[in-house]
Amino acid sequence: MSKTQDFTDGFTHNGTESINGEKLIYPAATRNQEPILQVLKRFIICDEENISDESPLFLEVSSGSGQHLYHFAPHFPGVRFQPTEYDKSLLGSITYYSQACPTKNIYAPIQLDICNDFKDYGLQENSIDYLYNANMIHITPYQCTLGLFKNAGCYLKPDALMIMYGPYCKDGIISPQSNIDFDAFLKSRDPSWGLRDINDLIKLAEENDLSLIDTIEMPANNKILIWKKNLNT
Ligand SMILES: C[S@@+](CC[C@H](N)C(=O)[O-])C[C@H]1O[C@@H](n2cnc3c(N)ncnc32)[C@H](O)[C@@H]1O
Repeated sequence: MSKTQDFTDGFTHNGTESINGEKLIYPAATRNQEPILQVLKRFIICDEENISDESPLFLEVSSGSGQHLYHFAPHFPGVRFQPTEYDKSLLGSITYYSQACPTKNIYAPIQLDICNDFKDYGLQENSIDYLYNANMIHITPYQCTLGLFKNAGCYLKPDALMIMYGPYCKDGIISPQSNIDFDAFLKSRDPSWGLRDINDLIKLAEENDLSLIDTIEMPANNKILIWKKNLNT
């Protein structure tokens, strides 16, 4: 069984739940998963065909429907994928996709609030090779952005990457008009939401031993930001 929830790329799911393990289909995730995969192929290095306890760990914060990892994981059979999600009602769908993955390299989801320290979920410092987050920081209070960077600084291995996807502003300027409208819409829903400025993220990264190493323009006025954990920290 499946349920489809249509919403703008970057907007939260709106009341669709998967308590009983139905797979959810977010049309935005269906649209953006392939362009994101093409970028991941440039940054994820792993030639192994199978996973072991030593395989690179790719942890996703806010997995939503679970579609993204289901799309990515078969292309990286030697990488261990760990989905996580704050909203308990989405865990059924993420579990569905994890179990359906043909390469069997997606773990069961963890219910995780990014505002908490990852040690609360049994994670070890310097243990994550790739931290991935799509479409969360503009749809949550800034506290969640702080939590994401703080956990990235502590839990990524030296030289490891955080990969973020979504809409952003730069130098206080939002463009084009569709992103201005989207930002206004988000703030009307919750004043603590809204597009984040890349300059603020760079400062936050510096405080957490991370550096912005690449910015990639994506369809529908989104970007991928690639952050690297500094060596010798
Ligand atoms: C627009 S959805 C994005 C889902 C998915 N990443 C995608 O791109 O399709 C935003 C997600 O942020 C999650 N979220 C909200 N508050 C959170 C928190 N405190 N910690 C972690 N995730 C949170 C929501 O549950 C939701 O799944």
